[in-house]
Amino acid sequence: MVNNGYSAAKRTMMVGPFSCSGASLHWSGQGVILDGQEIIRRCRLLAEQTEEPGHITRTYLSPPMHEVHRIVRCWMEDAGLTAYVDDVGNLRGVYGDGPRLMIASHLDTVPHAGAFDGILGVTIAIALVEQRPPCSIEVAAFSEEEGVRFGVPFIGSRALVGDPVMDAGVLAAISHFGLDPARIPEAVLDPEVKGYLEFHIEQGPVLENLRAPVGVVEAIAGMSRWELRFDGKANHAGTTPMNLRRDALACAAEWIGLVEHVAQTTDGLVATVGKIDVLPGAGNVIPGLVTASLDVRHALDEVRERALNVMLDGAEHIARRRELSVTGESRLEQAAVALDFETVEEAVRCCGLPVHRMVSGAGHDAMILAQKLPAAMLFVRSPGGISHHPDESVLAEDVDAALAVGAHVIRMWTS
Ligand code: GLV
Ligand code: MN
Ligand code: MN
Repeated sequence: MVNNGYSAAKRTMMVGPFSCSGASLHWSGQGVILDGQEIIRRCRLLAEQTEEPGHITRTYLSPPMHEVHRIVRCWMEDAGLTAYVDDVGNLRGVYGDGPRLMIASHLDTVPHAGAFDGILGVTIAIALVEQRPPCSIEVAAFSEEEGVRFGVPFIGSRALVGDPVMDAGVLAAISHFGLDPARIPEAVLDPEVKGYLEFHIEQGPVLENLRAPVGVVEAIAGMSRWELRFDGKANHAGTTPMNLRRDALACAAEWIGLVEHVAQTTDGLVATVGKIDVLPGAGNVIPGLVTASLDVRHALDEVRERALNVMLDGAEHIARRRELSVTGESRLEQAAVALDFETVEEAVRCCGLPVHRMVSGAGHDAMILAQKLPAAMLFVRSPGGISHHPDESVLAEDVDAALAVGAHVIRMWTS
């Protein structure tokens, strides 16, 4: 890892010496070959499993996740994996014995999602096992990466690194899904897992602009997620003069303007208030209570932390001036993470593909697993740079390229 100021320490992927021989797409003569087109078909098939007809919405352990598990489990078993659901709801499958490489991504979605965020990485992982690799592989299909249902992301992968989310609501959801919260500690990584690899759509326009089918992720930006609660006073919208109001939504709106201003004036910072709940929520009642999410990201932790403090202090200042109260609760403080890019980069080169190294602005399970394992990621070009949107897509030839790189990484891992 070059010294780029990211907070995570350099880690070295535990693989043997590089070999540029045999950079072919398939293991010779064995197994069923799943190509890019079939992987896209599988992603679109899973997209039919949704909480909201007409949209792709599949939050943590929501009812459609049962059917998704059933389908993906069949694919895993066909590929030769021994599959099971752990007690945070991750679908896991093990192929072969001995030291193994984990290849993983997630099965949950944001509301009104596309078909490929997370799912593509799971289906590519299964396709690589379908090629009957010459080493042991564990495929993990994480139950929760997005953080939509409880405002806390990475519930699935955090259990593997021994840092499970034990909020009462999460535990109730686990029981309701038919799993046993008392057995969450058993979801922890097996000591035989020695490395982590994740395939994911880029979710941005960089690779398309470079005309590159894949990108090598060298680091993932850190993120803070908070929930703020503005307490005002509900009252009649027609009879309460403007100077006697304690309007929680007007207060939150002023603060959102501040959040946007801080992000616009801080190089590389992104900040989003993406969810807001207003009570009592009627057109003729002054809003009395507002809860608002806050998501702040930057590749440098100190920049993110400084900006976050300005935003939180600003909320207090605005509320005090308006004679309301505001409280905030942190849902996630995730430092930026450096990944092990060397092996994947070498595999991209060996496959004859253009090499582009990049920082991910989106969060990924890889940043959690990197706490315990050498972790690497490959991005697949996102046509139009569109993601977290139904128009999200991927090109079959780019998925074929990702498969070729994955097969080569496995060869290097094995050698
Ligand atoms: C995951 O999609 C994220 O919020 O970065
Ligand atoms: Mn996402
Ligand atoms: Mn994702």
